[in-house]
Amino acid sequence: MPTKVVVGVQWGDEGKGKIIDILASRSDVVVRSQGGNNAGHTVKCDGEVYKLALIPSGVLYPKVRCLIGCGVVVDPKSILAEIDGLKARGITCANLRIDPRAHVVMPWHLVLDGMSEDKLGSSKIGTTRRGIGPCYMDKSERIGLRLSDLCNPQQLADKVKVVGALKNSIIEKVYGGAPLDLDAVVAEYTEYGKRLAPYLEDVSVVVWNAIQEGKEVLFEGAQGTLLDLDVGTYPYVTSSHPVSGGVCTGVGIGPTFINEVIGVSKAYTTRVGEGPFPTELFDETGNTIRDVGHEYGTNTGRPRRVGWFDGVILRHAVRVNGLTGLAVNKLDTLKGLPILKVCTAYRKADGTRITDFPPIFDELEGCTPEYTELPGFTEDISGCKSFEELPENCKKYVAFLEEVSGCPIRMVGVGPARDQNLER
Ligand code: GDP
Ligand code: IMO
Ligand code: MG
Repeated sequence: MPTKVVVGVQWGDEGKGKIIDILASRSDVVVRSQGGNNAGHTVKCDGEVYKLALIPSGVLYPKVRCLIGCGVVVDPKSILAEIDGLKARGITCANLRIDPRAHVVMPWHLVLDGMSEDKLGSSKIGTTRRGIGPCYMDKSERIGLRLSDLCNPQQLADKVKVVGALKNSIIEKVYGGAPLDLDAVVAEYTEYGKRLAPYLEDVSVVVWNAIQEGKEVLFEGAQGTLLDLDVGTYPYVTSSHPVSGGVCTGVGIGPTFINEVIGVSKAYTTRVGEGPFPTELFDETGNTIRDVGHEYGTNTGRPRRVGWFDGVILRHAVRVNGLTGLAVNKLDTLKGLPILKVCTAYRKADGTRITDFPPIFDELEGCTPEYTELPGFTEDISGCKSFEELPENCKKYVAFLEEVSGCPIRMVGVGPARDQNLER
């Protein structure tokens, strides 16, 4: 049965876009199920670089249907800019469909995301300030606007009047900010609704039909397992469910329709934003990996925090996602480092060894990662075409990552392009 979920298994930016683009060449449908334009998925092909935020990473193949499920939050201005940007580069979004139940990121969400972060000061989450959290808050509070509202001018005007007034009072009275001009919001968003209306379709039904017809369906995760609202490093997480289970509610299909779950990781670890990161490096090695790996946010340009590969979080990801295979990217970035460290457990100050990622991350305080050291490699591996061609030390490193994760490694990335991916 041909459905595959692709999920990030660290804190995002693992190279999911590249893996989706590669797998999309053999797929009929690619579906996003959660998150919004907080995501930045990079696809490199024929020397061109595409940075996708909301449009599924299968868009470069004209035959692939690209779908946005009900669990995604859509900033209409952002998605229209993306559609226009792709069109200007000769890429069509004619096959794009968006579920009418998906929620709309409204201007007050952007304002409140920024104000909340500023108010939190040193306790801030380090969000992308794209209004994602406030939009999901309204969805849970049941006052959100959905795509179906955006595309119905009367409903849009009525809802903006009520919800906008409430949000303006929060902006003014809680944060001391300037209220939004709600008439202007209605005028602007009515135009967005007109442009997006042709894309609306019940994605749950489209996916169901594709599965019934035996089509290859790929579910594209955004963010990563440790950013999951429940099983991530709360509160330093995003407001959706990037784990494989999120696909079911975020698309509207049952778990029995999922056949494979592929986790994407880097050969080391990165994180943007605040929050715990046990294997983080603060030394020259960390700076080297950041520079060589160009570790700056795709979306916000922020420098990414960098650290060694963490087997504890990988085992957590294998369990919570039910992974059937792993894709490990950016092995090439580690070239030239004399020693490669892999964290296998955390050690508490009292000597206790922790091998399961703690549910409450306060428990990480005072913990030190326990590392196994492996020899590095100096060869340029970016031109390797098969796993067998890799230097012995690379093969040993990959074998060790597989051992500590407890999951078969099916793909190894040696560069950002489509043909720099070694399948095993
Ligand atoms: P995503 O959010 O998971 O899709 O990942 P991002 O696109 O935000 O970040 C991953 C970055 O790594 C992008 O710049 C990719 O082009 C790049 N990348 C992906 N795989 C590889 C790889 O194997 N080697 C190298 N050097 N870069 C890679
Ligand atoms: P992709 O799909 C990396 C992080 C933010 C912040 C936290 C909450 O490209 O892997 P939010 O704006 O979602 O409320 O921010 O989540 N974050 C990401 N980090 N990659 C992403 O997406 C991310 N999306 C959100 O940096 O720490
Ligand atoms: Mg990214």
